Amino acid sequence: MKKTVLVSGGAGFIGSHVTVELIEAGYDVVVADNMSNCDKTCFEGVKKITGKDLKFNLVDFCDMEAVNKLFSENRIDAVIHFAAFKAVGESVAKPVMYYKNNLESFLNVLEAASGHGCHNILFSSSATVYGEPDAVPVTEKSPRKPATSPYGNTKQMCEDILQDTVKATKGSDGEIKGILLRYFNPIGAHPSALIGELPRGVPNNLVPFITQTAIGKRECLSIFGNDYPTPDGTCLRDYIDIVDLAKAHVSAVGRMLEGKMKEDCEVFNIGTGRPLSVLELVNAFEKVNNLKLNYKFAPRRAGDVTAIWADPTLANTEMGWKATRTIEETLEAAWKWEKHLAGYENV
Ligand code: WQD
Repeated sequence: MKKTVLVSGGAGFIGSHVTVELIEAGYDVVVADNMSNCDKTCFEGVKKITGKDLKFNLVDFCDMEAVNKLFSENRIDAVIHFAAFKAVGESVAKPVMYYKNNLESFLNVLEAASGHGCHNILFSSSATVYGEPDAVPVTEKSPRKPATSPYGNTKQMCEDILQDTVKATKGSDGEIKGILLRYFNPIGAHPSALIGELPRGVPNNLVPFITQTAIGKRECLSIFGNDYPTPDGTCLRDYIDIVDLAKAHVSAVGRMLEGKMKEDCEVFNIGTGRPLSVLELVNAFEKVNNLKLNYKFAPRRAGDVTAIWADPTLANTEMGWKATRTIEETLEAAWKWEKHLAGYENV
């Protein structure tokens, strides 16, 4: 029988891409979202790409009654939990809102899953838990550093909550097994240009800022800092294609549902293992899309780490997952999506 996966936050950037890949891998997917940071664009895109008449569930995961109802109405085998606020700067300004939302929604999911015989929880964590690493690339054993924002703190806390729950429920009827995926920098869009990132207001992240500058929505990209101790002076990151990232979830869910886990709570880095500087990324974007980007160097942005990239060996060997898309393919897709949003024909 087909297995059913609940994707909380399934209408968002990562959730929508994961939904597509799960459906294409043969899973039934229950998509639920409170639409607090997205509109129906991506959900409609998912339906078009997959050709499925998916039902949308408007659910706020902070509403325990609504979460329980979702579990009562659907026989859920695994949950992939994305529903959370994700803006680092906003979390500094509104810590209570972040802690309340990101923790309460996850606690509700755990409680409802455990109470309804759903044993498998996959949590979307972040490389932000490594802070400024002592050594790169980082492995899953690299130490977590104190979080520098409430957002980062909620990721660490949810990791701990899942680890504790896995320990506490072992052997019980409500047993929970967990996988934590630590994403590096997810970028790009689906090659169909039917789903992608929809930042509200001025984008904080690099790639949406680049594509909005290229299309003329923003005047000029500021590259934050060119005096870092790196080969070209700009920061190094591990940019992971959104479709590759989505496929990692399919591998992880398969591992859980097929009983292949080696520990009750597993952690995997999801990155390419290839560091890229901000300048290299800008140059690659210009080259592959054959355009010139208006950019300037600006002072460093507070809180940025100099360099971080993944050692993805564990995900490669244990989950059989590996990033395959080139940065050129990814940046081409990101640009195609921006043009789609701007209403260009035949992107
Ligand atoms: C990448 C690089 C910037 C914008 C953040 C979160 C993290 C994770 C992913 C989110 C940095 C530079 C950026 C710009 C620039 N989670 N930059 N000009 O900071 O690595 O990670 O997003 O949900 O938790 O912290 O990503 O895309 O913001 O920045 O020069 O206008 O681009 O300084 O070196 P970051 P980013």
